[in-house]
Amino acid sequence: MRRPFIAGNWKMNLNRADCVALARAVAEQVAAGGPVDVAVCPPSVYLDAVAQAIRGSAVGLGAQNMYFEGNGAFTGELSAAMLLDVGCKYVILGHSERRALLNESDAVVNQKTKAALAVGLIPIVCVGETLAQREGGQTRQVVTTQFDGSLAGLTNEQMSQVVIAYEPVWAIGTGKVATPAQAEEVHAELRQLLASRFSPAVAEQVRLQYGGSVKPDNAAELLSQPNIDGALVGGAALKAESFLGIIAGAKA
Ligand code: PGA
Repeated sequence: MRRPFIAGNWKMNLNRADCVALARAVAEQVAAGGPVDVAVCPPSVYLDAVAQAIRGSAVGLGAQNMYFEGNGAFTGELSAAMLLDVGCKYVILGHSERRALLNESDAVVNQKTKAALAVGLIPIVCVGETLAQREGGQTRQVVTTQFDGSLAGLTNEQMSQVVIAYEPVWAIGTGKVATPAQAEEVHAELRQLLASRFSPAVAEQVRLQYGGSVKPDNAAELLSQPNIDGALVGGAALKAESFLGIIAGAKA
């Protein structure tokens, strides 16, 4: 059985006090030993503060990005080891905003994924098509190319640590959520890719999150689909009440 996994991607929002307050509010409500894995991913300057705020709770810490090199002259970048050092368990990689705005390629996401795994961070690798690609009937091809490029060269053991987030770009921050059937169709394809490129056992293990306008009122139906194992939540993760409502949907 795959444990449901709900992660909040706070993106470039909130200040230090807001991050600490939100993290505390979430941590107070997420019981240890509960049925769902929960993580919050604040802006990197607040990782340390949020780590303190959730210390001893069942909530995990995630970063929104990292660089693939171990250390050195890479001004402005953060290494996987640094993220681990401040208490991160997860790192989001290849988010569509980074792919589109910061030119992150599958090859770079692949290097980052390997660097994260090398120190024991759990990568949340994002894939997803744009509206034009969906309307052009290219969803399967786009997602397959991103999958193959981003996850190339991983061993079965490494792959089974990875979380994949399917985030259709047209559904991110737009309020236009994929229907459960649309999301499930791509998730089922991802599961098949895992089985064919890695192994059926890996496919059974890897958690597939859906992301894109997940809200408390649509979470339960999305999460009840057989191949949707969790959610990567943006806007609705910025308020404790709505994030907790989504977590409740995962338990239903
Ligand atoms: P959204 O963002 O929930 O605001 O659509 C999801 C994401 O980008 O991870």
